[in-house]
Amino acid sequence: MTAYDLIRPLLFRLDAETAHRLALPLLSQIARLPLAAPPACAPTRVMGLEFPNRLGLAAGLDKNGEAIDLWFSLGFGHVEIGTVTPRPQPGNPRPRLFRLPEARGIINRMGFNNHGMDALLNHVARARRPGILGINIGKNADTPIERATDDYLIGLTKAYVAADYITVNISSPNTKNLRDLQGGAALDLLLGRLKAEQTQLTDRHGKYTPIAIKIAPDLIDSQIDEMADLFRRHRIDAVIATNTTLARNGVEHLPHGAEAGGLSGAPVFTASTRVLAAFHTALANEIPLIGAGGVLCGADAQAKQEAGAALVQVYSGLIYRGPTLIRECMEALAVPPQKPS
Ligand SMILES: Cc1cc2nc3c(=O)[nH]c(=O)nc-3n(C[C@H](O)[C@H](O)[C@H](O)COP(=O)(O)O)c2cc1C
Repeated sequence: MTAYDLIRPLLFRLDAETAHRLALPLLSQIARLPLAAPPACAPTRVMGLEFPNRLGLAAGLDKNGEAIDLWFSLGFGHVEIGTVTPRPQPGNPRPRLFRLPEARGIINRMGFNNHGMDALLNHVARARRPGILGINIGKNADTPIERATDDYLIGLTKAYVAADYITVNISSPNTKNLRDLQGGAALDLLLGRLKAEQTQLTDRHGKYTPIAIKIAPDLIDSQIDEMADLFRRHRIDAVIATNTTLARNGVEHLPHGAEAGGLSGAPVFTASTRVLAAFHTALANEIPLIGAGGVLCGADAQAKQEAGAALVQVYSGLIYRGPTLIRECMEALAVPPQKPS
């Protein structure tokens, strides 16, 4: 029995968003406890960056970068903060976060609640950062979708020096029409402008900050092929597969199962891993992949690696399993995959 096993029933009695707020100070206490032995970890080079291990914290748990050092102290090799928008915004009305414990899933429709880019950068400046820091950028809810590129360019420019890599989130289901950016002329234009700006910023700062694109699990094969072509053509640095799903397969009968928003945790594992594997085939090792979606144990992390992931991220699993999951995944990912990626 771990410390988190003791705390979890108490947290789960509270509404999900209150529990989330209380869990952070509790986790920082757990992080201070000495570890029996440091977990096995295999450093790896991805996007030209040296990652101390293959496991990372997925975006959305620390939207403002308030606990960066806590996440690293729990063992994560990389931490992705955000999604951050150029200006602060409150997100959707509460309740907007729901646990589905029977399925080990979560539905959220947070809607990019965050304190804005400037507040996030203040937190980043104060962090020690012993690992790799990703900053995940999005658009403000009141920026029209035709102007989305402007918000992403603001995010890229402002976060460029502070971030080790930048994730462009075009796959949240909770910002109106955001997922329309996942194909066709809109994606071509967005990627072209981001890469042109990246080139200018590289010259200006003498530093290359890689760009990852985060995609949805709800993509059909023709969309995947089209996106893979565009990612290759625009020399995108990495693809994160995936965000949450709009599907409700297997959870529709559960309490909260029909809430609007994105579903994560165990119920998204199959769809996420399918999309990850499909991108692995379509990209033929030209662009590295980061696997996220439904990792609840070490074997799940290994399955992501076998489907082609160079790195793996977790969010919902951490809510259900606590810090034990981190150690378990690090150990599983230190073993080379059965099928080489
Ligand atoms: C409450 C909640 C908030 C999230 N917020 C974001 C976000 O702001 N940006 C983002 O790119 N992904 C966000 N995600 C998606 C996660 O980063 C991850 O891609 C997804 O949940 C699948 O992984 P998981 O099954 O391990 O949770 C959020 C997920 C949850 C559960």
